[in-house]
Amino acid sequence: MHENALKNKIILIGFMGTGKSSVADGISQKLHIPKADVDAEIVTRAERAIPVIFEQEGEEAFRALESKVLYELLQAPESAVIATGGGAVLKEMNREHMLEHGLVIQLFASPEVIISRVKHDTGRPLLQGDVTDRVNSLLKARAGAYDFAHLTIDTTNLTLDEVVDQIVAAWNQANLK
Ligand code: S3P
Repeated sequence: MHENALKNKIILIGFMGTGKSSVADGISQKLHIPKADVDAEIVTRAERAIPVIFEQEGEEAFRALESKVLYELLQAPESAVIATGGGAVLKEMNREHMLEHGLVIQLFASPEVIISRVKHDTGRPLLQGDVTDRVNSLLKARAGAYDFAHLTIDTTNLTLDEVVDQIVAAWNQANLK
């Protein structure tokens, strides 16, 4: 790994519906650093919604684009908070890049909370069908996949502000910049 890579990113990982994007907004406001969202960037570049990319090109093509966008956002010289998609952790190369470029924070929530947040969502192709079944089986398939993070926060009983404050405190303490 590159010893002198800038570790100036806060990188949020976690399963779908754990609040990565909202928490990234909160951190961005509090620390006055820009927010980057891997999914949003993919949609902008592909000029298509995520379910359309999955349908037209398949999951592998989406994953390739996800890795490319993640890599570029991590390489950017400015400090930033980066919200990743729930599957960005599945490739080892992505995990290595994240660890190399900053503080990796796992957001965790109970299956019940996740299900209640995503049950009416149509923008997540991997959750189409019986949402409860899909969430439970993906959680099982991905058990441990997020555990490479430097820090894990169980958001189940926390407010958004509390989660943001914990991350800001960890960031100030980590002093990686
Ligand atoms: C995915 C999570 C989604 C999005 C895509 C695939 C996953 O992002 O990247 O639908 O594999 O977990 P969110 O975690 O922001 O929902």
